Amino acid sequence: MYSLNFGSLSIEQFLAEYWQQKPLLIKGGFSNFQDPLSADELAGLALDEQVDARLIHQNDANWLVDEGPFDGFDQYGEKDWTLLVQAVDHWQPDAAKLLEPFRFIPNWRIDDLMVSFSAPGGGVGPHLDQYDVFIIQGMGKRRWRVGMPDASLEQFCPHPRLLQVSDFNACIDDVMEPGDILYIPPGCPHDGVSLEPSLNYSVGFRAPAQKDLIGGLADYLLDFQIEGERFSDPGRLRSLSPGEINSRDLGQVRQLMQQLLADDDLMSHWFGSYISQAKRELDLQEPEPHYQAEEIAEYLDEGSVLGRLGGLRCCYQQANAEGDVQLFINGDRFPLPANEIDSARLLTDRSQLTEAECRHFMQTPERLAFITQLINQGYWYFVE
Ligand code: SIN
Ligand code: CO
Repeated sequence: MYSLNFGSLSIEQFLAEYWQQKPLLIKGGFSNFQDPLSADELAGLALDEQVDARLIHQNDANWLVDEGPFDGFDQYGEKDWTLLVQAVDHWQPDAAKLLEPFRFIPNWRIDDLMVSFSAPGGGVGPHLDQYDVFIIQGMGKRRWRVGMPDASLEQFCPHPRLLQVSDFNACIDDVMEPGDILYIPPGCPHDGVSLEPSLNYSVGFRAPAQKDLIGGLADYLLDFQIEGERFSDPGRLRSLSPGEINSRDLGQVRQLMQQLLADDDLMSHWFGSYISQAKRELDLQEPEPHYQAEEIAEYLDEGSVLGRLGGLRCCYQQANAEGDVQLFINGDRFPLPANEIDSARLLTDRSQLTEAECRHFMQTPERLAFITQLINQGYWYFVE
């Protein structure tokens, strides 16, 4: 297990002073850091057509972007290229463990673990991201420069699939070594150039835009055929200009929409389903044949432990201590009675259950049936 060390800073101070505000370099954030995967293993992942990978290389002033799957890397030579592999947490359980220390931010805000290998001189060039990121330095050394948001910076595309930013003033300019962590808030220009063959792990966050939220809500209403209230206008005043949509009508339309958003159950059910949907392919561990509940009980009784599938999104919502619990797993909603809050917490707060935590799921036939269903769906699996 990786243990995060913010030095003299507490997590509370980090959140109050840096999160979404300013970048921070945490030297030795992980002491005695061991890479969870090798450069060769990362390259191997990038050969797989299910895995989202791209390679950015620089040839003098020309930037080139190749999309995976790749069939080899020899043609790229010894320098000036970076291979970026998305959602490595979906494919590599050891790499997925790197997300765990960052769960002081809730699951729903965490996106995925992107891993890059850079040859000396390699990097994606100076750019801005829309999301917060923690970049962990694995093997090798890389020089990172980070600046504060600056509206005067110009964005341009040196390649149709590469957005970069003009030269910026750096407030952090340092060489990162294994175990160092760089926090970059959205909109801060940054540029990392490898000094040695190096691995970087990016813990990325997600921040849905209003467009995504409204679009997601509309899809939910359609999927569940939720019609909602219809516009009505008793007491209408006579219109003097039939062509006009007057501000009173517009106000009533807005009110109708706000009324929908004010529905607590709808908001909770929709948002949990929406935000727990997998964005990318999952490496489902569906057992063949499926287990019977009695077999699961036997394994748990023997001390077998369960792990959660890497990349599986899950979260829960409970409006108050007496209220039902809404558990969301991979886009599906499972309503549970209030006294099942511990089950929801174990499934969503923990990526791996201990023996004692596993036994919790043997205590009632309902829990056993539920965990059996989740195992048979390939969402939880017995850890070797
Ligand atoms: C990386 O090259 O590992 C990170 C790229 C980035 O800054 O987003
Ligand atoms: Co970036």
